[in-house]
Amino acid sequence: MPISENARAVLERRYLIRDEHGEPVETVDELFHRVADAVAAADARFYPKADVASTAKLFYELMTSLDFLPNSPTLMNAGRPLGQLSACFVLPVEDSMEHIFDAIKNAALIHKSGGGTGFSFSRLRAKGSTVNSTGGVASGPISFMKVFNAATEAVKQGGTRRGANMGILRVDHPDIMDFITCKNDTKEITNFNISVGLTEAFMAAVESGGSYDLVDPASKKITGQLNARAVFEAIVNSAWQTGEPGIIFLDRLNRDNPCPGQGEIESTNPCGEQPLLPYEACNLGSINLVNHLRQTAEGYTLDRGKLEKTIRAAVHFLDNVIEVNQYPLPEIDRVTKLTRKIGLGVMGFADMLLYMGIPYNSDAGVSMAKTVMELVQTIGHQESQRLAEIRGAFPLFAESVYRDGTPLRNATVTTIAPTGTLSIIAGVSSGVEPVFAYAYIRNVMDNTHLIETNQILKDKLAERGLFSDALMREIVEKGTLAHVPGVPEDIRRIFVCAHDVSPIWHVKMQAAFQEYTDNAVSKTVNFPNSATREEVAEVYRLAYELGCKGTTIYRDGSRDEQVLNIGKVN
Ligand code: CDP
Repeated sequence: MPISENARAVLERRYLIRDEHGEPVETVDELFHRVADAVAAADARFYPKADVASTAKLFYELMTSLDFLPNSPTLMNAGRPLGQLSACFVLPVEDSMEHIFDAIKNAALIHKSGGGTGFSFSRLRAKGSTVNSTGGVASGPISFMKVFNAATEAVKQGGTRRGANMGILRVDHPDIMDFITCKNDTKEITNFNISVGLTEAFMAAVESGGSYDLVDPASKKITGQLNARAVFEAIVNSAWQTGEPGIIFLDRLNRDNPCPGQGEIESTNPCGEQPLLPYEACNLGSINLVNHLRQTAEGYTLDRGKLEKTIRAAVHFLDNVIEVNQYPLPEIDRVTKLTRKIGLGVMGFADMLLYMGIPYNSDAGVSMAKTVMELVQTIGHQESQRLAEIRGAFPLFAESVYRDGTPLRNATVTTIAPTGTLSIIAGVSSGVEPVFAYAYIRNVMDNTHLIETNQILKDKLAERGLFSDALMREIVEKGTLAHVPGVPEDIRRIFVCAHDVSPIWHVKMQAAFQEYTDNAVSKTVNFPNSATREEVAEVYRLAYELGCKGTTIYRDGSRDEQVLNIGKVN
């Protein structure tokens, strides 16, 4: 069986079914058969003479070759009694005690099964407004977020993985200024990523230097005005300090909402790549691009033929997941099956560029991003159309933005996920991010330190007779290859790490993938510790100009510094 040692180690540690004593009751090989068999079984619902065994073989090979992997909950739960296979959910939070605490309960059920939840808190009335039934005073969205956070913390203990949340507040909510700084104390609301939902009206006011209205969500009355540039600066300042909040462009999420008749999209999943309607779930999967290279006399090129086959098999796989998935709530089952969204993306993109000899921060790198993603998007949609011929279009197709074209099985097909665990299993760079570091020190148990080196760099240096422990030590110390004298210029130019890539190139790359992605792109723009607030502001503006759906930044060391600051104050 071709499963790599790396993959085996991660899967054994985290994903195998275990008995009550914590001992694994399946092997890695059995895990992949369990998942392949469970997902292939859906074929029988559509074709009376379906050859389920050959589909199961196709899916098994797709995964064990590490050409494609479905999101973690599918690997953990397929073919098991829990059977919850999606990574992404959005739950509505309506402005009543019943609804708020229903949402907390539903989120707990989702977290228990390895899924993540996104919420918009924009419908909750502002802090200080009246509560009709009691005559009391409302505590506002941020205080309720703390309750969601505490519930997530408690569920962490028994779940399959750490529960993750996204919290979004519209920029025109009266409590927006409190929201922007609600995580500046980095010990607060730790189980949430937060993003401000920006509107076109707000961005226009930032541009003109004007004010914009704050609206009370309950009465829809204007409660005040804020200067847009001052709010934008507050967002930038907070992100500069702690990496949060991120921003999302709500009008863009809704411009690309394939089924506007179902209402507004007001939130994404925890890492921001999957906008969803209330109660919608989505399952993701990622293609390992390194496995889709072909070696020729001139070097590595993209194996388009193999990539097409993988895309088709992956879309088939993800559509089957919707069928066999056991959803945590009847309402999620109903809503999810109306649009049948899937999110196929890629991982190992930066590694692929290393093999091809293309710098990530270059026009050629951006152009390769478009080439790859255009193929995933085009072939992915074709496969969804092919499935629709046999299985029928998604139920809301006739009222969707696609209604005048060829029927589609899935209202969205593509998403770029972070692939936090999947990329470790596949042994490649995560999602579409640049390589974070080429060499780092790993502490092993007996207090010895091992230098771990990126295999692609190791091979390249060895090929030139340049590999040595001393050189690797220097790379570890400097953090990048950029200032290591023993590394030839051509290698330095190609082997760039996240911190060698200027923020502008991070955004350009995100925008290139977004152009060919139905949903959104998970991406963090990395800044050096010395970056200024103005540089952060520039990236936010550029993300808007280049058509991104949102963005997240992180300034090196900013959270550590923050913890120190708090220590000093205390
Ligand atoms: O690689 P893996 O399939 O484990 O996940 P990912 O690509 O890093 O994350 C995809 C999505 O899974 C996130 O956006 C979240 O919706 C969800 N997730 C979660 O709920 N909890 C986590 N600890 C990690 C991811």
